[in-house]
Amino acid sequence: MARLLVTGGAGFIGSNFVHHVIKNTDYQVTVLDKLTYAGNRASLSALPEDRVRFVRGDVVDSALVGELVGASDAVVHFAAESHNDNSLQDPKPFIHTNLIGTFTLLEAVRAKGARFHHVSTDEVYGDLPLDDPARFSEDTPYNPSSPYSSTKAGSDLLVRAWTRSFGIAATISNCSNNYGPYQHVEKFIPRQITNVLYGIRPKLYGDGRNVRDWIHADDHSSAVLAILERGRVGETYLIGADGEKDNKSLIELILTLMGEPANAYDQVADRAGHDLRYAIDPTKLREELGWRPRYGDFTRGLSATIDWYRQHEEWWAPSKAATEAFYSRLGQ
Ligand code: NAD
Ligand code: TYD
Repeated sequence: MARLLVTGGAGFIGSNFVHHVIKNTDYQVTVLDKLTYAGNRASLSALPEDRVRFVRGDVVDSALVGELVGASDAVVHFAAESHNDNSLQDPKPFIHTNLIGTFTLLEAVRAKGARFHHVSTDEVYGDLPLDDPARFSEDTPYNPSSPYSSTKAGSDLLVRAWTRSFGIAATISNCSNNYGPYQHVEKFIPRQITNVLYGIRPKLYGDGRNVRDWIHADDHSSAVLAILERGRVGETYLIGADGEKDNKSLIELILTLMGEPANAYDQVADRAGHDLRYAIDPTKLREELGWRPRYGDFTRGLSATIDWYRQHEEWWAPSKAATEAFYSRLGQ
């Protein structure tokens, strides 16, 4: 596995994974990224030029994908349209990238015989009730709610079908909500942090009882590398770090850590079809691969993330105004 192709490597988690691979292995990495509004070359700065090559391109470009997969031993597929709120306004790019892009990669992998790891989300399982301790496992039936999660579910099913029908050497991971540096300001945690930094009141959808299971992006990266190197081909692994929090408590924690009154936020229009609760049972990953998260203390990880946004305004400020203009059109 000396030569890795990483799609979406200029995004939040893809760039984190590239840094993790360069630090912890001797692999060569080629990043294929379209640099949509969500991609940022600056997230890949300070990496050794003799080990990381950047190619700007679209994962639906079969000629380019065929050439890059042909020169790789393994592919780790992060590229996606990733934001639920965008998918509710315009689902088309989600069909393009998440479904046709994954199909294009699978066909190239089938022709070449490369190892394939598909990065997905726990949102493919739909949501769980609030008043029930049940968590998602690898056996939970698929039941996605939004255009985003349904295209991710479809992409997972394509990978499963190409594995069974064509014998490609694939694994899939479904991870819970990530936080950490370099996350786009459209997402919940960075939106609220950067709102406070700009004197804008944080925005809570609906009553904020919705629960998300938070994991640091560094822990997601270490899990993906473990699955790529030691996971059983044909298997799915759920990735989570026991980080359940409801949105209201989290917005209050962000405000408190930033020295503001805990109630200094606005309740805004709820998201259509808003999933109630996500929660991961990571037993298989822990027991089979011995994986453990490094970020046991969520409040410490969140404080470090707040510090990062304080210190890197030049990275996020160019996206902030357009993001808030988008939300204000939705009353959010
Ligand atoms: P992101 O939106 O930050 O990054 C996506 C990257 O993909 C960007 O760099 C973008 O330019 C690139 N991209 C988009 N369309 C492309 C195309 N057609 N061709 C090539 N590149 C393209 O997303 P993220 O949060 O880093 O998520 C990465 C992956 O992890 C996604 O597959 C997502 O479904 C999955 N995931 C995310 C989370 C989360 O909490 N963010 C949790 C679980 C799984
Ligand atoms: P988000 O970061 O968009 O991730 P996902 O939709 O994949 O879970 O949102 C996380 C949670 O926060 C979700 O329940 C929606 C909610 N939310 C808000 O309450 N306010 C906001 O400004 C945003 C962006 C999200």
